[in-house]
Amino acid sequence: MARSVIEMLCCPSCKGELVYETVINPDELNNNPLICNKCNVSYRHSGAWYNFLDGTGLLFKNRREKFFRSVLAKAYTPLTNMMFLLCGGPKSARNEVMSRLRVKVGDAVLETGIGYGENFLWLASRTEGLHLYGLDIQEEMMTHCASNLHRWKITAGLARADAQKLPYRDSVFDVVFHLGAINLFEDKGLAIREMIRVAKSGTHIVIADETEKAGRLFNIFTGSAERVVPPVDLVPAEMKNITLSTIWKGYGYVIEFNVAK
Ligand SMILES: C[S@@+](CC[C@H](N)C(=O)[O-])C[C@H]1O[C@@H](n2cnc3c(N)ncnc32)[C@H](O)[C@@H]1O
Ligand SMILES: [Zn+2]
Repeated sequence: MARSVIEMLCCPSCKGELVYETVINPDELNNNPLICNKCNVSYRHSGAWYNFLDGTGLLFKNRREKFFRSVLAKAYTPLTNMMFLLCGGPKSARNEVMSRLRVKVGDAVLETGIGYGENFLWLASRTEGLHLYGLDIQEEMMTHCASNLHRWKITAGLARADAQKLPYRDSVFDVVFHLGAINLFEDKGLAIREMIRVAKSGTHIVIADETEKAGRLFNIFTGSAERVVPPVDLVPAEMKNITLSTIWKGYGYVIEFNVAK
C-alpha cells in the first residue's frame, strides 16, 4: 500500500512534522495543503507535486549559462542523448549508473534532481511494486516529468524542492540516488548528508555526474568550466565501502557507499 505523504514528508527547513492545513479534497488526502506549525509555512500541491520552494531556483554563473540551462530544460532528452553518445550511447550511459542501484521489489526509492523522470521509467520497467519519489528544483523540469510519468503510467510522489534541503523524514528510503547535477550544487556536502539522513541504515547510495573532461565540452555555452572535483571526500568517513569510479568513457564519475547509522 502507498505510504501517506504525512508518513514520508517533513518540513525542509526545520525537519519537523507536517500536518494537513485544510482538507480541500477529502478523497485525495495526499494532495491537500500541508503546514509546518513550527515555521508557520504552508506547502501546496500543484496538482502533480508538492511545492517546497517559493521563487527560489537554480543559480547560474552568468547569463550565457542561464540561457544554456533554459534551452536544456526545453530540449532535455535530445540534448542529453547527444551528449551521452560520447559516453557510449544513451542506453549504456544510463545503465552504467542505474545498474549500480540495489533495488528490491517494494522498495521506497528517492532520486534527487529527477529531470524528465527517465530513471523512473528505467526502474519501473525492471522492478515491481516500487514506491518512487523524486524532486527537482526547476518547475519546467517538474512539468515535463509529471507529464512523462502520466504517459508512462508510473505513479510517483513528486516534489519541487532543493536537493540540499530535502522535505523527507529521516530514514525512510531503501534506495537514494542522484544523477547529473551535484557539480553545480552550492553545498555538495550538505546534499550528500541530506541523502544519508533520509536513507535507512545499510542503504546503498549512488551519486553520478560529469567529470571535467565533459565540462570542457560545454565551455562554449556556459563559459569556462570550474574545476570538477568528485565530492567523494565530502562523504562522512563513518559511511561504509566508499568508492569513486570513472564511467562514461572518462566523461563521468560515480560515488557509491553504504549508509552506516
Ligand atoms: C542533468 S539533469 C539530470 C536529470 C535526471 N537525473 C536524469 O538522469 O535524467 C539534472 C537535474 O537536476 C536538477 N537540479 C539542479 N540543481 C538542483 C537542486 N539544487 N535540487 C534539485 N534538483 C536540482 C536540474 O533542474 C535538472 O533537472
Ligand atoms: Zn518547519
